[in-house]
Amino acid sequence: MIDSHAHVHDKAFDVDRAEVVARARAAGVDAMLTVGCDLADSGRAIACAREYGLRASVGIHPHEAKDAPEDLAAAFAPLLADPAVAAIGETGLDYYYDHSPRDAQARVLRAQMRLARERDLPLIFHHRDAFDDFVAILRDEFVPGMRGVIHCFTGDAEQAKIYVGEFDLKLGIGGVLTFKTADGLRDAVRAVGLAPLILETDCPYLAPIPHRGKRNEPAFVAATAAKLAEVLGEPLVAVTAGTAAAARDLFRLP
Ligand code: NI
Repeated sequence: MIDSHAHVHDKAFDVDRAEVVARARAAGVDAMLTVGCDLADSGRAIACAREYGLRASVGIHPHEAKDAPEDLAAAFAPLLADPAVAAIGETGLDYYYDHSPRDAQARVLRAQMRLARERDLPLIFHHRDAFDDFVAILRDEFVPGMRGVIHCFTGDAEQAKIYVGEFDLKLGIGGVLTFKTADGLRDAVRAVGLAPLILETDCPYLAPIPHRGKRNEPAFVAATAAKLAEVLGEPLVAVTAGTAAAARDLFRLP
């Protein structure tokens, strides 16, 4: 299995990070991406990836867009030079919290998309309550040959079909799939099938049942894999192998 979206460098893991990584490997998680949310956080992600043999991403989350540098490409350049970096993100639009002005969110999203295109790197997208504006920006900036994932996908079947059918994006499936209220997400997953799906935890947040309410960690991706197999009616081994192959392809992992 691959945990395509974790925050292993988060301070929630400061007390036992080595044990967390060891538990993940023992559970069959053979690759993990630790995802940055602003420039300083992305630096911590890279340092963590180097120390523990993970991969990292460099990005500015829409919450942090108000503090983003004017020249984003110049600010990202030293970080992107590190061979542990496998993606740009998380980036996107979040109109649920609106922690940054919406025009700043859009500017920083577009800048990261252009940088991903120049660098031939995949994008990790975060969006919440912003579907129409987000898709409009995708139609502007996301050209054929670019790669990306809708992290923590929780949309419906129509949205899933647009992301997969129009943009060939992957959908990141996390612990929400196991929640009792997530029938719409389960329908969406069945509508697109296994091929575009990759697994994630978004740890330390959003732990799947039966760990819900606890600190999430990469080993718990196994619970989401089991639920996905049940939802799709596929053997577990097909789900773990299929999602891992899709994640390796997206992030160009060995
Ligand atoms: Ni995240």
